[in-house]
Amino acid sequence: MFRKTTAAVAGILVLALTSGCGGSSSGGSTATAGSSAAGGGGKAITLGFSQVGSESGWRAANTDSVKSAAAAAGVTLKFSDAQQKQENQIKAIRSFIQQKVDVISFSPVVTTGWDTVLKEAKDAKIPVILTDRSVEVSDPSLYVTLVGSDFTLEGTKAGTWVNTEFASAAGPVNIAELQGTTGSAPAIERKKGFFSVVTDPKFKLVASQTGDFTRAGGKQVMTAFLQAHKDINLLFAHNDDMALGAIEAIQAAGLTPGKDIKIISIDAVHDGMQALSDGKISHIVECSPLLGPQLMDTAKSVLSGATPEKWIKTNESEFTPAQAKAELPNRKY
Ligand code: AHR
Repeated sequence: MFRKTTAAVAGILVLALTSGCGGSSSGGSTATAGSSAAGGGGKAITLGFSQVGSESGWRAANTDSVKSAAAAAGVTLKFSDAQQKQENQIKAIRSFIQQKVDVISFSPVVTTGWDTVLKEAKDAKIPVILTDRSVEVSDPSLYVTLVGSDFTLEGTKAGTWVNTEFASAAGPVNIAELQGTTGSAPAIERKKGFFSVVTDPKFKLVASQTGDFTRAGGKQVMTAFLQAHKDINLLFAHNDDMALGAIEAIQAAGLTPGKDIKIISIDAVHDGMQALSDGKISHIVECSPLLGPQLMDTAKSVLSGATPEKWIKTNESEFTPAQAKAELPNRKY
């Protein structure tokens, strides 16, 4: 598991709004964090980073990790928030190309639709490092590497827990699923992993819809699920924030989360771990947001001429309620 690097030079960070990337008319926003330190090979590095948005606790922790790791590594960061819109990410990447940054990184909102802009980056000889989420492109050389989690494995771990938890249940076991953002890698791959192991005919998927990885989305969709289905036994939420919203909906319906409806979710952010420790969530598969230090190391090594593995995978764990209780005092996000 990766630990967040402390922003030792936070005091000298200067945040300044820049124009031409995102901007209020497009809904995106960009800021530059300046630093005086030099990057790999003695040359100062400027990294353009396009973040998905601020949809979840995981995302907030990921943004902190990238910003603090850039400051600690002496990398000048041009940070752009896409507010969950692919068009904002494409604008941000084009702006980074115009500004001739040394390296571009982004966490793609969705998997498809990147070929053209990534070709523009390649033609400008600016390496692209994906973080957190993958893309589907016709030419794999359009990005150098992905620093991020194995979402299919996360889904498989969640499904394996379900198989054990309901091993003695005769069935039917009615499952509701809160999916992540439609078309995003974690939504596609977590679903795939989960249902690759949850195959016993006693399991019935009675409701499945996106909650867009947000707490509000989770609450709204779960409220509708509960109105349509009185007999949900298990909720599979693609992230903690949607599970936390669903808990509110379950309680509002007069049911007890964790008892009347078991909940499995993914992330292990602080609020999710608290709910797990309180018995409202039943199990959490970890997805680490602390990708910043690895991203900075990878950027430096790529710029000094190294060719990294195509996928630099994050090490992750999973938590029972007892493990969450023990881990909570150390949980930084
Ligand atoms: O891509 C990672 C996912 O995106 C996290 O699981 C979720 O919380 C976030 O919004």
